[in-house]
Amino acid sequence: MTNPGTTPARTAIVTGSASGIGAATVLELARLGYRTVGIDINLPGAQATAHKAEHLHANGSAPGHLALHADVTDEPRLMAAFDEALAFLGQLDGLVTCAGVADTTAFMDLGADTFRRLHEVNVIGTFVCIREAARRMPHGGRICTVASVAGLRGGGLLGTAAYASSKGAVLALTKNAARALAPMGISVNTLAPGATLTPMIAEHWKDQARRTLVESMSALHRTAQPIEMAAAIAFLLSPQASAITGTTLVADNGLAMY
Ligand SMILES: NC(=O)c1ccc[n+]([C@@H]2O[C@H](COP(=O)([O-])OP(=O)(O)OC[C@H]3O[C@@H](n4cnc5c(N)ncnc54)[C@H](O)[C@@H]3O)[C@@H](O)[C@H]2O)c1
Repeated sequence: MTNPGTTPARTAIVTGSASGIGAATVLELARLGYRTVGIDINLPGAQATAHKAEHLHANGSAPGHLALHADVTDEPRLMAAFDEALAFLGQLDGLVTCAGVADTTAFMDLGADTFRRLHEVNVIGTFVCIREAARRMPHGGRICTVASVAGLRGGGLLGTAAYASSKGAVLALTKNAARALAPMGISVNTLAPGATLTPMIAEHWKDQARRTLVESMSALHRTAQPIEMAAAIAFLLSPQASAITGTTLVADNGLAMY
């Protein structure tokens, strides 16, 4: 949404915007007055999120939210999508990398192909998004990646070796990016969610015993909602977080407590 005659709205690209935490993030940023571009392999889902975001600001002004199709493992397509996003937004203030995949294969059954796929999407996909955002961001740009308590704990809840190691890599990647991009005035932080009720875990949560077991491991004995992750991401993306870079915000109901 543009505000003629006033400060332009802040802008952000959100990957994984079709579902779960990414969708909630687009809606929370829209509520805060951001214009957004969602990127996902699920275009209808991303379009539905953009449509909902648009309705939060239905005032007859130019469209404020766009959805683009791109696989974060397809580097040329992703680079083109960032160009399209910048053309739509005019300026890029923020990036949130929610696109991710999980895996629950038992350690001894895990194949290298699955392992590679998880790292391709969760780690390399995140890296390319950070690099492409940084190429287009002005001084003051803010990036929030999404890791997991699995990356801190080494898994042990749902995600297994491929997932936990990919999220551990996101934690290190984020710190490295924070160092590398600081001279450009760009901050990079990561959110490490605990169990959050999205399609990623919904099927597993139908097993009440499993859900109760994981919830009982957290101090607050509960599963989070996507909006709670979105609110934490929105803070890390905001100018109010100006002194924060290279850090991990753990939003896990008190599960890991590192
Ligand atoms: N839900 C949880 O309990 C939980 C906990 C810790 C971390 N996380 C992390 O949060 C992030 C968001 O997860 P969620 O729970 O919202 O899951 P989700 O499955 O609801 O959403 C993930 C989104 O990423 C998109 N996506 C997947 N692969 C993609 C690719 N190659 N290119 C572009 N888009 C792709 C999907 O289409 C989907 O819209 C993930 O990185 C996940 O690992 C989730």
